[in-house]
This record gives sequence, structure tokens and C-alpha cells, in this order.
Amino acid sequence: MTAVGTGSELVRNATRRLQEAGVPDAARDARRLFSFATGTDASRLILTLPEPVCEEVACVFEGLIVRRMAREPVSHLLDPRPETETLVEVALRSNFTKMVDLGTGSGCILVTLLAEVPQSIGYGTDLSGAALDVARENAEIHGVLDRSTFVCADWMESAKGAFDLIVSNPPYIAVDEMAGLSPEVSRWEPHMALTDGADGLTHYRRIIKQAVSHLMPDGRLIFEIGPTQGQAVADLMRAAHLQHVTVIPDLDGRDRVVSAQMIGFQPERRA
Ligand SMILES: C[S@@+](CC[C@H](N)C(=O)[O-])C[C@H]1O[C@@H](n2cnc3c(N)ncnc32)[C@H](O)[C@@H]1O
Repeated sequence: MTAVGTGSELVRNATRRLQEAGVPDAARDARRLFSFATGTDASRLILTLPEPVCEEVACVFEGLIVRRMAREPVSHLLDPRPETETLVEVALRSNFTKMVDLGTGSGCILVTLLAEVPQSIGYGTDLSGAALDVARENAEIHGVLDRSTFVCADWMESAKGAFDLIVSNPPYIAVDEMAGLSPEVSRWEPHMALTDGADGLTHYRRIIKQAVSHLMPDGRLIFEIGPTQGQAVADLMRAAHLQHVTVIPDLDGRDRVVSAQMIGFQPERRA
């Protein structure tokens, strides 16, 4: 795993950016979030801060800092997202050299994957220009900007060529589930990042349709899903003639990721 600097350096940089964003008690928040990102008890920080920090942890920390800069409460940030870690872990189980992260948001998935696989290049797409600015900044901070391309696009609409890995964590909450979301989620996540405004599967259908003509032979398509969507998303992938369709649970045993592979060529492949 590549180190990106010491904990002290990351916390100093984060404190300065929080201060510039007008966050009160910036140094305290930076230390709390660092302690959370590294899984270190706050009382032991003095021992761990001089140590080098790996890319993966630095990326998690950066995601927290960016959200705190937008004045999201610290209490909300101290809420882990193991589902996205599961997607990254599954993606890293096989080789890839050219990947795309659809709906890249803060770029956390893209940046982590590129940092972990140094010979790879990656594309991040999103409809939100503001999200792409954050993703670009994250790619720069973590030294992968020269291997990243960011495109404001509707999923793969303007994509050219083929990829050996396509990943996405699209908005998957059904519209009738939105009312049941906690205020911490519904107030702090942009609406466009949460729901498709329908049954929760619209984006999977669209992405699968686009992705099959952009997957290299043996290339993989990997989705994060809501815990009740495993069967439905797996069926959509099988209907598109993808193979080795597997639903993978997170550490709590809830379905969180669906992975599938393209075997052979697709007649509709675009140049
Ligand atoms: C659930 S968030 C995922 C963000 C990030 N990849 C992650 O895992 O933390 C979904 C992202 O998809 C983006 N998005 C929504 N509709 C899109 C579309 N039609 N094309 C591209 N991106 C879209 C949203 O702006 C948001 O950044």
C-alpha cells in the first residue's frame, strides 16, 4: 500500500482548509475525523500522527474533510460506509488497467482504485460539476490526477472505447422509501445522489444497457446496491448476457455489491 504522507501532515493540511471554509474549532475537528478515519483512539493520536498514512485511509479522511468543509455536522460524519469499502475490495480482487467509475461523486472509489493499482488509468463521470471539482481535487491530493479523466456526463453517454472494469454506486433509493430516510441522510446528501425518483432500479437498467457495449472481453461490471436489491440487479445483469453474476454481502451479512463479467464480444460494441 502506498503512503501519502504522515498523519501530522494530513491533519495540518486539513485544519488549514477547514479554517479557510470558516469551520469553528478546525484543528479539533480535523483530529477527530483523522482518528475516526484511521480507527485510532483519540488518546493514542500523539503516537500515530508521525506515522505514514496509506492511500486508502487518506482517501477516507479526505472525503470526511470535504464534507465537513460543506458544514456537515461531525456527528453525521462519524458514520462508516462499509458498503463502499466492499465494492473497492471486490474490484481489487482482479486485474484492471482501464476503468471507469460512474457517478464518481467525491471520487473516493476512483481515487482509491487508481492509488491501489499504479499502472491503471481511470475515468470518473458525474452529472454534477461541483462533485467533479471535488473528485479532481481528491485525485490531485492523492497523486493520481495524471491517470484520471473527469467527464460531466449522463453515466456512459459520451464514453468511447472499452474498459476492463466499470464500477458504480448509483442513486438506488426508491422514491417511496425517501420519506423513511433519517434527516441526517435526507438533509445532507443531494437528492440526485440518493434516488432515481422511481423504483430504485432505473439507473442499474440504464447503466447495464450502456456498459455492455463498453466492456472488454472478461471485463467486469460491479455495482453497489441497496440491501434488498441483490436479486433484481443480478437478474438485470443476467438478462444482458453478463456471466459469473455474484451478489456479495458486507461484513454485516447484508447484500451490498453485485459483480458480473463479460465473456466474449458484444455485437453492439462501439469503437
Ligand atoms: C450515491 S452517489 C455515489 C458517489 C460516490 N461514487 C460514492 O460511492 O460515494 C451517486 C452519484 O451519482 C451521480 N449521478 C446521479 N445521476 C447521474 C447520472 N445520470 N449520470 C452520472 N452521474 C449521476 C450523483 O451526482 C452522485 O454523485
